[in-house]
Amino acid sequence: MASPKEAEAPPLTGGSASVPDPTGQALLPLRVNQLVYSVSGTALIRGIDLTLEAGPRTVIMGANGAGKSLLLRLLHGLLRPTSGTIAWGQAGWGTATRRRQAMVFQRPVLLRRSVRANLRFALGLRPSSSKDRSQRLARLLELAGLSEVASRPARVLSAGEQQRLALVRALGLEPEVLLLDEPTASLDPAAVAAIESLIHTADSQGAKIMLVTHDIGQARRIADEVAFVHHGRIAEHTPPEEIFARPRSEPARAYLEGRLVL
Ligand SMILES: Nc1ncnc2c1ncn2[C@@H]1O[C@H](COP(=O)(O)OP(=O)(O)OP(=O)(O)O)[C@@H](O)[C@H]1O
Ligand SMILES: [Mg+2]
Repeated sequence: MASPKEAEAPPLTGGSASVPDPTGQALLPLRVNQLVYSVSGTALIRGIDLTLEAGPRTVIMGANGAGKSLLLRLLHGLLRPTSGTIAWGQAGWGTATRRRQAMVFQRPVLLRRSVRANLRFALGLRPSSSKDRSQRLARLLELAGLSEVASRPARVLSAGEQQRLALVRALGLEPEVLLLDEPTASLDPAAVAAIESLIHTADSQGAKIMLVTHDIGQARRIADEVAFVHHGRIAEHTPPEEIFARPRSEPARAYLEGRLVL
């Protein structure tokens, strides 16, 4: 396969348009087979095999530098694998598949426009009447607790406010798959609860949730299954009650005990 390169950037950070699937092909299960991603000859993702079904909320954990963000970007089609395959149901790899998903990045990058304009742009990517769109926009602002600051430039928002904006912008796309990379890392407890509630809403509306977090409490609250990444591989993929009570792999055990594993 071609050498690694950043795929064409999506129109928005925090999501791309969710459009009705012209093929009717389900995106799940996701089947990842021997996925490798290398930069300058160094393998950073080192042979991942992973199957994720439509229902369970998947939480991805692992130490700093383990490869969680790279894995999410590969799955979302923003990076091209060096070798191996990523199969979203029967759908192919690329823009059409990516547009049925939304991703919230570890560091949100927002359009250089107002908060409201960021949301309006995202909502404009889906077909709907302008009345419907303005109602949805107001609802998203309210959900994010950003109604008061809707006219401010998005870039002057606090880190937590930016993350909330990125999340509701992604939700506004009504994605079939929601990929979340540490969406609550810089949030206060009330905002964490608000974001988790938004995640539950998306889940109950049928979106597949794939969440990266270092917050063990959050993982316990959200996970139906945990995939633990270590050095670019999946060390274990187990139900939460198992990994938190009796982690099978040494890296997961060390991580959960707060030990550094190199
Ligand atoms: N473009 C790149 N070139 C070289 N190395 C890279 C590149 N992108 C990522 N890496 C390296 O790949 C490894 C995995 O990075 P990644 O961002 O996926 O980690 P992570 O598991 O998300 O960590 P964190 O918990 O800190 O967010 C890191 O060691 C990182 O330095
Ligand atoms: Mg990361």
